[in-house]
Amino acid sequence: MPLVNMKPLLRDAMDNNYAVAAFNLVDYGTVKAMVKAAEELNAPVICQTSSKTIDYWSHEEIVSWVRTAAENSPVPVVLHLDHCKDIAMIEKCAQTGWTSIMIDASEFPFEENLEMSKRVRDIAEKYNVGMEAELGQIMGVEDDMVVDEADSVLTDPEDAKKFCDALDLSAFACAVGTAHGFYHGEPVVDFDRIAAINAATKTPMALHGGTGLSDETFAKAIARGSAKINISTNLKHVFVQSFVDYHNAKPKDFEPLRLIDAQYTACKDLFSGFIEKFGGKDRGSAFLSNMK
Ligand code: 13P
Repeated sequence: MPLVNMKPLLRDAMDNNYAVAAFNLVDYGTVKAMVKAAEELNAPVICQTSSKTIDYWSHEEIVSWVRTAAENSPVPVVLHLDHCKDIAMIEKCAQTGWTSIMIDASEFPFEENLEMSKRVRDIAEKYNVGMEAELGQIMGVEDDMVVDEADSVLTDPEDAKKFCDALDLSAFACAVGTAHGFYHGEPVVDFDRIAAINAATKTPMALHGGTGLSDETFAKAIARGSAKINISTNLKHVFVQSFVDYHNAKPKDFEPLRLIDAQYTACKDLFSGFIEKFGGKDRGSAFLSNMK
């Protein structure tokens, strides 16, 4: 089916107590594996891209991969732009076929962040796509963005309300103690803050830094309003490790299709695990019938 807008999908997730898994795609094989994993579970899925991945490939290539995979599948698929502060890049995504865009101006003071986010809201409205924006600073490394622990700022629920009221977001990214990349030690997630932000904003929350969180953390975050959960680092590792493992196990096999198939299967298994954990199973057709 055609790609779907993220806004109604995340409302459905929040209303029905599940979260849509959002994976940072690497190449066509990973896109195909995401959509297939979702299809096998009758679940919605978000294929997302960082700006770095778009710079490596191109807008056109990525749109054609995700559209091809989605159009051959009955489940709802979103193509979303992850953290980006380049407004020209954001607009080009909306123009070329992304069905959701993110502005991350969280490094700027509140008013400047809001002003930039409003410009992106106008773009989202113009192209009728979903939108995510961020307030507070999430720790860790996400592609070219690095936030040290000392610079990370947890999101204040009252500021969150002001921000969300002005923007009408599909997803609100905020800092609640999670971090991009692998955790060093036990993550300290502020569940009360998630609940307070959600009560104040009534906006589906995007939980960033999904790699390394426990099943219990996911369940508690979803119960408090996290409707989109991002996974990137875990995929990068499975993508590389499955390739290396195959070659180590069969060092004389130089048939690339067998090798990329082993990688595809490992990535698909990873995606299925998260989709199930987040409660996405059987929500694909349920969402589509609610939309009718
Ligand atoms: P991880 O790399 O920790 O999985 O976080 C992904 C993310 O939040 C992308 O925005």
